[in-house]
Amino acid sequence: MTAEWWRDAVIYQIYPRSFADSTGDGYGDLPGIIEKIPYLAGLGVDAIWMSPFYRSPMADAGYDVADYEEIDPLFGDLSDADRLIATAHAAGLKVVVDLVPNHTSDEHRWFRAAVAAGPGSPEREMYHFHDGRGEHGELPPNNWKSVFGGAGWTRLTSPDGTPEQWYLHLFDVKQPDLDWSTERVREAFDGVLRFWLDRGVDGFRVDVAHGLIKADGLPDFDEEQSLLDGQSGPMWDQDGVHDVYRRWRRILDSYDGDRSLVAEAWVADPKRLALYLRPDEMHTAFNFQFLDNPWDAPSYREVIAATMAADEAVGAPTTWVLSNHDVLRHVSRLGLAEPGSSHEGLGAGDEQPDNVVGLRRARAATLMMLALPGSAYLYQGEELGLPDHTTLPDDLRQDPTWFRSEFTKPGRDGCRVPMPWAAEEPGLGFSPTGRTWLPQPDSYRGLAVDVQDGAPGSTLTLYRAALAARRGLALGSGELAWVPGGESVVAFDNGPVRVMTNVLGAPVELPEGYEVLLSSVPLHGHVLPTDTTVWLTRG
Ligand code: NOJ
Repeated sequence: MTAEWWRDAVIYQIYPRSFADSTGDGYGDLPGIIEKIPYLAGLGVDAIWMSPFYRSPMADAGYDVADYEEIDPLFGDLSDADRLIATAHAAGLKVVVDLVPNHTSDEHRWFRAAVAAGPGSPEREMYHFHDGRGEHGELPPNNWKSVFGGAGWTRLTSPDGTPEQWYLHLFDVKQPDLDWSTERVREAFDGVLRFWLDRGVDGFRVDVAHGLIKADGLPDFDEEQSLLDGQSGPMWDQDGVHDVYRRWRRILDSYDGDRSLVAEAWVADPKRLALYLRPDEMHTAFNFQFLDNPWDAPSYREVIAATMAADEAVGAPTTWVLSNHDVLRHVSRLGLAEPGSSHEGLGAGDEQPDNVVGLRRARAATLMMLALPGSAYLYQGEELGLPDHTTLPDDLRQDPTWFRSEFTKPGRDGCRVPMPWAAEEPGLGFSPTGRTWLPQPDSYRGLAVDVQDGAPGSTLTLYRAALAARRGLALGSGELAWVPGGESVVAFDNGPVRVMTNVLGAPVELPEGYEVLLSSVPLHGHVLPTDTTVWLTRG
């Protein structure tokens, strides 16, 4: 890692409820994560990012925060969080926590106070409360839809049963949107940032970073919303968001060390996304265009070049990612008939991915990603080559997408299944009692950590080797130079390494004078077969 660690770090995303359970209740927790810190340090990552662990009624798995300064009892308490930060730091890992500023839970004290204080009160100014349209206010203030499906507004009812004002929720009904044009909201979050910075965190992953400011007057917008689109419309990517990040940057810069901000912003135009990364704003932003890319060489070349150029223009590194807790894992995505196509989850009645082909492509995609300059995010379990659980019984689903889409979109539970640590233990070693909040698919047994640990050719072995080589050769802080590789080959040099990925093409000869440093599958002869990445060095 360079001094500004966020420029080239590999950051491992932990989804706390599914990582490791220490208590046996079937939900992962902070003590469970602490026990696995040596595993993460041994994997060779530089940092961890934890999805929300704050107090929450869990209407959206913790992205509905009821108290930003408390840990949910499901996960532990503040002393566990302190211990986790200290243990990670002692192991040389930076710690990034999730910050959810677009909305709170409806059980947050700010929202409760706003409801109680009534229309016109300063408490209500913290959220988007409006009178309804229509003669009796019976119609929502505008036609915005929720990202999870259904209407984006819900009407309150006062205790005596009379209908009241409406409030905006771009996500679930239990996630009211905060009104970031209000100074009170900004001040409240200054305090939240300081609370966690004082506890020693190295950065924040900012949820829905493109959503905080809504266009004046909340004009109608007809389109359906979807979490994974490069969203446009009066609720997304409004210029006013940048003031918020400038304010936060000043706070971060007032602390010692290199504290950083990473934007979760589904903004399709790389140049618009790069605006979040100007020198006085955020440090990095997930490159979801790369994640979303179809399995196709020309479009990989294009997306890599376009996003890097846009980021370079503002002096920022590009931040690569292939999987997270909101998308089909890349093994499953790349095993579809249309490889790489995005989906809001797969159910038993849907097309089932070919996990063998998917894993081969996923390993190739990962090796391509880890050779690119910039920082990179890994999602827990991808180092094991885990696929999604694509046949989860519908009655076990918990994602609000499933309910709010009226059972038409399976949602994201399939990528959130508890980790397999030990093949022969109950619950595959996730929990001491064998309980798991979602069932693990049969395929996870053969992919458990203890099966892959030290096994030649395993995906875990490949990740460890790639992370060690990436660090040793400083690829994250290197320079990319394109190399002509043919129609179906993505080829580039980064420092001493030549990287070639054959995407769906016929086998190609490897260049003379190079030796294979790493390859995503074993090679036979000096040939790069289809759906394979190699890292080469001059012999
Ligand atoms: C993005 C998060 O990653 C996702 O899990 C969540 O549902 C939405 N933001 C709303 O907070």
